[in-house]
Amino acid sequence: MAARTWLRRARQTLLASGTTAVLAAGLLAGTATTSQAATQGPCDIYAAGGTPCVAAHSTTRALFGGYGGSLYQVRRASDGATRDIGLLSTGGYADAAAQDAFCAGTTCVITVVYDQSGRGNSLTQAPAGGAAGGPDNLAPAAAAPVKVGGHPAYGVYVAAGTGYRNNHTSGIATGDQPEGMYAIFDGTHFGGGCCFDYGNAETNNLDTGNGHMEAIYFGDSTIWGSGTGSGPWVMADLENGLYSGANVGYNANDPSVSNRFLTAVVKGAPNLWAIRAGNAQSGGLSTYYSGARPNASGYNPMHKEGAIILGIGGDNSKSSSGTFYEGVMTSGYPSDATENAVQANITAAGYQTAPVTSSLLTPGARVSLRATTACCTADYLRHNADSTVAISPISATSSASDKADATWVVHSGLADSSCLSFESAAVPGQYLRHSGFQLYTATGNGTALFNQDATFCPRAGHSGQGVSFQSSNYPNKYLRHYNYTGYVAGDGGSNTWDNANSWSEDTSWLAAQAWS
Ligand code: AHR
Repeated sequence: MAARTWLRRARQTLLASGTTAVLAAGLLAGTATTSQAATQGPCDIYAAGGTPCVAAHSTTRALFGGYGGSLYQVRRASDGATRDIGLLSTGGYADAAAQDAFCAGTTCVITVVYDQSGRGNSLTQAPAGGAAGGPDNLAPAAAAPVKVGGHPAYGVYVAAGTGYRNNHTSGIATGDQPEGMYAIFDGTHFGGGCCFDYGNAETNNLDTGNGHMEAIYFGDSTIWGSGTGSGPWVMADLENGLYSGANVGYNANDPSVSNRFLTAVVKGAPNLWAIRAGNAQSGGLSTYYSGARPNASGYNPMHKEGAIILGIGGDNSKSSSGTFYEGVMTSGYPSDATENAVQANITAAGYQTAPVTSSLLTPGARVSLRATTACCTADYLRHNADSTVAISPISATSSASDKADATWVVHSGLADSSCLSFESAAVPGQYLRHSGFQLYTATGNGTALFNQDATFCPRAGHSGQGVSFQSSNYPNKYLRHYNYTGYVAGDGGSNTWDNANSWSEDTSWLAAQAWS
């Protein structure tokens, strides 16, 4: 067999299996390699396909089989010290226990997401831009716990206002050069503002015109583009436009996707681009668009600038939210076969949720929920005589009735047994519920609507401490205090209590010993 034929067949086999060793990847790329890495990462597959990673970011695992360096850096609040978080083994999973030990008794933020490609394209705190001041917020390091391959790890939790950037990159596509990218997001965490992105953007933090970006967008913004259903959608942020298909506006082939772990792909080449996505836990990728560039001016040829953004738009628009676990950018336009092999690697990595557990949040327990926002750390969630819900200071000297009003009996969720409902300790039979997105206590009536309104799912605290409680029927809304009153609130939105300022803190609660 001729060498070229052998190489072609071997490459097809590699891409079809998605599991061949790094040594083979080196051969297929036509380079001599002595790597003995036992596992293969997504970037080994991209290299084998002739479209190598030029940026590789993850807080959960190595993206090259031979990578043994640090994944990210955290900084703790207590003394400002920083610590690099590495891997349990070369090519393996994050050493989350190192973060837990370093951040014990305090909180940490993620200060750097290191580039594993060797090109120095790491992500750090985004500066101010044309659309919003800065520097942006840093992600709380413990707000997105996860398991990967059975190992605990943490994602990058982007609340509105959070952003990372690198304006001085190496090897990232510029002009009309071809590139590919994928990211794994939490498909249940999204927002409608502009713009939760990962990918290529302007190097000066300003909107410099159509075609100056090429990034993956995830969310339910309808400002520029949309697809079927009510979102969220994977779209391409090409600057001054989130594109869901051929042209601006609605494109019928871009479906709403909300897999808990979502693989999102965008790639672009001269007069060619594509959107693909799939469930990061199983199955393959679907192609939602593949074809010519939009016909609006400025997008053909493209004017990519080569900065990298995470969690924000090109001009530092930072009104949206999402969670990022890993992502890469490539040099060259990856084939669908290469991306399919990467998706096989991703599903084999084994992303799983990490449930929040606490003995105080177990059906049958009694609990008091303490606010964590700096204003209000002596305050607890309680109901009033008129059935409204608020926060107020409770202490050992409080009256017995105030203590009872701030105590909740924990039940298995009325609408979802994997979640919780909270019954008033003072008025048995009355449950915490939302109505018109405000919180009340009310007598259960057994209807599906009541049960859903009274069911909340515990999640890791958005501020990096405590617990956040997700509404069962409005998954983008969480128990929040705002102006000392109780609501379910989104991270930005149409109600005054959706205000993004302090949202992460206002929605994070400490499960405390019951007052009554
Ligand atoms: O393209 C959508 C957004 O428009 C970009 O992210 C931002 O730079 C501009 O406001």
